Amino acid sequence: MSDKAILEYKGQKYEFPVVEGSENEHAIDIKTLRAVTGGLITIDPGYKNTGSCESAITFLDGEKGILRYRGYSIEELAEKADFLEVAYLLIFGELPSKKELQKFNNDIREESYVDEEMKNILDGFPKSAHPMGVLSSLTSALIAFNPIPVDIDSEEEMYSAVVRILAKFPILVVWALSKRQGMPLNYSDGRLGYVENIHKMMFKRPHREYQKNKVVVDALDNLLILHADHEQNCSTSTVRIVGSSHAGLFASISAGVSALWGPLHGGANQAVLEMLEAIVADGGDTKKYMAKAKDKNDPFRLMGFGHRVYKNFDPRAKIIKKAADEVLHDLGVDDPILEVAKGLEKEALEDQYFIDRKLYPNVDFYSGIIYRALGIPTEMFTVMFALGRLPGWIAQWREMRQRKEPIGRPRQIYIGENLRPFVDIEKR
Ligand code: CMC
Repeated sequence: MSDKAILEYKGQKYEFPVVEGSENEHAIDIKTLRAVTGGLITIDPGYKNTGSCESAITFLDGEKGILRYRGYSIEELAEKADFLEVAYLLIFGELPSKKELQKFNNDIREESYVDEEMKNILDGFPKSAHPMGVLSSLTSALIAFNPIPVDIDSEEEMYSAVVRILAKFPILVVWALSKRQGMPLNYSDGRLGYVENIHKMMFKRPHREYQKNKVVVDALDNLLILHADHEQNCSTSTVRIVGSSHAGLFASISAGVSALWGPLHGGANQAVLEMLEAIVADGGDTKKYMAKAKDKNDPFRLMGFGHRVYKNFDPRAKIIKKAADEVLHDLGVDDPILEVAKGLEKEALEDQYFIDRKLYPNVDFYSGIIYRALGIPTEMFTVMFALGRLPGWIAQWREMRQRKEPIGRPRQIYIGENLRPFVDIEKR
């Protein structure tokens, strides 16, 4: 017999079924709550206790520090798979065969262009525009050039929409960077792999040959895999909720980019590096910044620390820390910021304030250090996160539509004025 939860309210008892996930997670199914109780709802700002959906894509256990995509551990995927394979896995549910992966790669190559008129839109931005704003706008603008709606019941149409966005989004990412740097807008090189091609588009200069660097491309591939999905985080929930109104894939992804931009979410990677730079410039006094982070009268937070779900080490942070060491060593980069980061991490992990609140380094703490070593400008860090998160957003959008989820529309408890008569302007 399956479990039930009983709610007692005003002397009346109500029974609700308890849903069990494949990893023994439990949730009280309150779908009928409002109807059976005559209007009672739940309230949970920030959705700290609310599951918005059932999903078969990503499993994470924040207490144990576990992250898996479609059942495969993030550690194994980071070591053995490449980004496009992981994208296929997330979106379609299984690892691709050689043939499927080759077809996926070829189909993406075929779509790796954007309409020349997109350049007019890009031209309208000032050079100083933040690339996340540019990326969100360009993604939205893509709709005008790909206006055909996707029939979500057609596997073929769904596949073709997935291929189109995976092919075109990296071009937008690169153009956002090139605009900022005053560089020519490069196009894809169909002979290269997905990530290498992105790297070439980013770093090819008009006056010199592109130099392939395996260490750099592998590190980039790895970072993208680690960022590829993270179940119902802020930007993914945004993508799902925008898509739940039956807005198209590109519109939903554009909204996801905006949600990711904030410093409490993906924007943290830029904020971490700026914080570490400020600490170095201030003489490297980590204790001063630790004290600021703990001072409740100071809005400063230790960026790259803490997580809504992880109350243990973020498994991605562990992999990235090791990769940062290796990449800096392989590239012969001696970055004082890495030492400050390690010092800060050590202090925080031994500090009672951080221990009590279970604040551990998150994915963003070390990623900026690698991006910097790879020659990626600081204001592009969150854009790189978006590039990595793209397959996750697509997979979650597709799942939401295929499961025919209802439109996302939370309720509220109104705490404003009661009905009052209108007051004429002369009498106010
Ligand atoms: N520095 C100092 N104190 C912190 C920090 C921090 N980074 N994070 C949380 N706290 C404190 C917070 O002040 C609160 O203390 P108290 O209980 O005394 O009021 C307690 O820890 C719980 O924090 P919360 O804000 O209620 O937790 P949350 O789950 O709402 O927020 C978070 C999670 C990630 C927004 C938050 O930890 C944070 O702001 N971290 C810094 C920004 C960051 O690194 N974000 C990247 C997250 S991982 C990648 C991603 O999601 O994109």
